[in-house]
Amino acid sequence: MHKILITGGAGFIGSHLTRLFVTKYPDYNIVNIDKLTYAGNLENLKDIEDAPNYTFVRGDITDAGLLKELFDIHQFTAVLHCAAESHVDRSITDPLAFITTNVVGTATLLHTARQYWNGAYENKIFYHISTDEVYGSLGETGFFTEETAYDPRSPYSASKASSDHIVRAFYHTYHLPVKISNCSNNYGPFHFPEKLIPLCIHNIINNKPLPIYGKGENVRDWLYVEDHVRAIDVIFHTGKVGETYNIGGHNEWTNIALVKELCRQMDEKLGRDKGESEKLITYVKDRAGHDLRYAIDATKLKDQLGWLPSLQFEEGISKTIDWYLNNSEWLQHVTSGNYQHYYEQQYDKR
Ligand code: NAD
Ligand code: DAU
Repeated sequence: MHKILITGGAGFIGSHLTRLFVTKYPDYNIVNIDKLTYAGNLENLKDIEDAPNYTFVRGDITDAGLLKELFDIHQFTAVLHCAAESHVDRSITDPLAFITTNVVGTATLLHTARQYWNGAYENKIFYHISTDEVYGSLGETGFFTEETAYDPRSPYSASKASSDHIVRAFYHTYHLPVKISNCSNNYGPFHFPEKLIPLCIHNIINNKPLPIYGKGENVRDWLYVEDHVRAIDVIFHTGKVGETYNIGGHNEWTNIALVKELCRQMDEKLGRDKGESEKLITYVKDRAGHDLRYAIDATKLKDQLGWLPSLQFEEGISKTIDWYLNNSEWLQHVTSGNYQHYYEQQYDKR
């Protein structure tokens, strides 16, 4: 029986993680702290908001006073730390927000958990959710393993790498019972349409240009979000304290091939002529410092804890498109207001 503080539970991955834990573990008490930045959305959690084992608190993970109060009230036995500024393009225009939340916020959480647990670490877990981007950029071959040296290259990935280092420092120095996982690119329902896949789905629906950075040859390793949170569940319950686990789908796509597959499936689903959506593809100025390729070797997770992805990509992407087509209200809500401003700033001058 755990009392868990989930951070960032109103975001993309956080909402799937919160739903999984609230519904699968009715004996656990789950508190979700989320600042509700542009990326946080309580609509993502509508189906579980009244669950008896779930509480939402609007708050900032850099607020040490609030965190202490929450630990005192709820007596957490575990933290599942998902909150972050997560979009690489935004980190290029506003790096300090990334340092504040991802570095200072993570350090504040670690410090609070350490003070509250005060050395009584039995059955306690501080689980830090991180990214494969900390490893830097691969050439055309090879994979990131848990032993790959860190080489972050964007303000986002550097802030996540810093947070990973601080988490490990708390393990080595204070024996805080930490677990870390580094995952590849996620996709699926509730993904904010600033990221490649939901942005293109949204633009295809609206017959708007599909902006491809550079030549579209950069490669990402895509994993369905429910497979990611299933891996977190497995690591949380059976992974070893102090260890790091890579999570990935063995599912590499160049951006251009991926967007063409999206166009193909959406032409079928929308009853458009074959090739119609592809005409929207527009090559635009490349992302600064654009990492060429990410690819995860998840052998450790498979061999030691038995986790494997469950969905083939074509099936996962089809489910994802269907979700966006069936949830046009959600898409409309998140793309009104500030989204328009962001979109103009990000794309009009490219
Ligand atoms: P997201 O941007 O969709 O959600 C982040 C959430 O954190 C939002 O709900 C936001 O309101 C909240 N938040 C931001 N700053 C906060 C603060 N200071 N205090 C409290 N809450 C705050 O992000 P995501 O894509 O769901 O990513 C979640 C985590 O998973 C991140 O740590 C990210 O680095 C990691 N990750 C993401 C991916 C991916 O493909 N999206 C892959 C691997 C790892
Ligand atoms: O690898 C894990 C990471 O994946 C996570 O840590 C990040 O939080 C998450 O945002 C994601 O980062 P990426 O930068 O890989 O994702 P994004 O969807 O922004 O971009 C995917 C690829 O598509 C990347 O090569 C850039 C490119 N791209 C992106 C956008 C938004 C375009 O070509 N055009 C676009 O408009």
